[in-house]
Amino acid sequence: MIQLPFAAVSAPGIEVAYMASSALFVLGIKFLGKVKTARKGNQIAALGMAVAMAATLWELLQAGKYSGISWAFAGPTLLFGGLLGWRLAVRVPMTAMPEFVAIFNGLGGLASLLVALAEVSLIAVLANDRLQLPGLPSPAGLTLSRHGGFDFAIAVALSVVIGAVTFSGSMIAYAKLAGKVNKSRFGPLGSTPTNIVLGLLTLGLVVWGGFIAETPTELWIANGSLALVSLALGVGLTMPIGGADMPVAIALLNSYSGIAGMTTGFVLNNNVLIVAGSLVGASGIILTQIMCKAMNRSLSNVLLGVMGDTGSAASKEGYTKVKTTTAEELAPLLDAARLVIIVPGYGLAVAQAQHKVRELASLLEKQGCAVKYAIHPVAGRMPGHMNILLAEANVPYEQLFELDHINDEFAQADVALVLGANDVCNPAANDDPKSPIAGMPVLNVWNARTVVVVKRSLSAGYAGIRNELFQLDNSLMLLADAKKAMEDLVTELKAQ
Ligand code: TAP
Repeated sequence: MIQLPFAAVSAPGIEVAYMASSALFVLGIKFLGKVKTARKGNQIAALGMAVAMAATLWELLQAGKYSGISWAFAGPTLLFGGLLGWRLAVRVPMTAMPEFVAIFNGLGGLASLLVALAEVSLIAVLANDRLQLPGLPSPAGLTLSRHGGFDFAIAVALSVVIGAVTFSGSMIAYAKLAGKVNKSRFGPLGSTPTNIVLGLLTLGLVVWGGFIAETPTELWIANGSLALVSLALGVGLTMPIGGADMPVAIALLNSYSGIAGMTTGFVLNNNVLIVAGSLVGASGIILTQIMCKAMNRSLSNVLLGVMGDTGSAASKEGYTKVKTTTAEELAPLLDAARLVIIVPGYGLAVAQAQHKVRELASLLEKQGCAVKYAIHPVAGRMPGHMNILLAEANVPYEQLFELDHINDEFAQADVALVLGANDVCNPAANDDPKSPIAGMPVLNVWNARTVVVVKRSLSAGYAGIRNELFQLDNSLMLLADAKKAMEDLVTELKAQ
């Protein structure tokens, strides 16, 4: 077994702190399960992270586990990273949050990759007797014999492969969310044959690095090559994922970032990292399953890009029967309505119209109209996007209904008010077996007496496909920015 003589064996006090922070993580996740307690859950989990960091720093300070050099690096690095993270989090606009989360997932993967590579580099340097670092054992202290089993070398190989795939995959996910991917720049990356070759190479290198490599130099070469191949594999695996299937990819990458952290925990022999990584990995897998169910996809379909990527340039042409309307014309319709179901989508987040929607809903309720919100699981650009947005405007949670619980109610609704949503209420999912969203459960807004679609133009949504909803007999298009449209509707309703 390849053993690091300087691998961490923490003092009992540190382990207790790690256990406390693990318990706080679990408690935080429990509270995150409900909208009302989610904020508290976030705070509890953050406290857990603070305890874990304080314990790790304390351990560094103690009788030279890694000695003073780590403090010299850890202090400024922590300060820089903390300030940068805080500044970015405060400044990021709500609409850029999905891209921000994708980058954070990717950075988690990068951290795992770098830590694993640093560990093998350190072993190689020490074994080659080039450098004697203060506080570290002499090269003679290194034991390099192998007996198999789940040892350091396997943990390093897994950390490298999962960290690298998470990093490059998340960067592609970020670029896709931001609409910045230019496929032609990636050559054959993303094609099935290239992915098969990269997958086999990765497997071979994991076996070499994890089970066969004997010397520190071999270990270093195996893992260095593995990092390069896995980075390419991450790009190749994420590139072909169809536009509408990105929610699954994002949930999966989130899970990978947790698993990468867990394997790094094994590399560093750090219990709290193992626990935290496992929690993120497991919850990410559950989210992936939920997203697969929401899209009615199998994971293999998504990963193999079976549904294809349609791009985002669907034609605005060819809509011949569209009926447009104005806020003035709509006001009497809403004034007389008894049940209005609001369908929020990504455009609502772009327009930041959540507060105005709440104002409109309050006006309608005062007139005795029931208002409900239909939440599609993949509406917006990140899991729970619409819930967060509406919570910002203090929309009562009881008025939010998931797809399965509201779809039958559209038949009783006077008005379905579609606000910046498109793909999540596209009838092609039911009617066109060749559509990229075929089979995805959608909100059956067309069953309402009147459907009012508020968006700026007839352009496509994220999946890049036509939407026949725009020209159904009972559809009216209010072509405007969602916030402006809501402001105008509120003014007109007040004037009724
Ligand atoms: P989309 O289908 O993306 O449609 C959003 C619509 O909002 C666009 O058609 C756009 O039309 C309109 N819009 C943009 N800015 C607006 C503004 N200021 N005012 C009014 N309308 C505006 O959104 P959706 O229905 O929420 O569906 C989500 C899509 O994103 C799905 O395809 C889903 O698979 C994908 N996706 C989801 C996630 C997660 S996890 N939720 C992650 C990645 C991808 P105009 O330009 O004409 O205004």
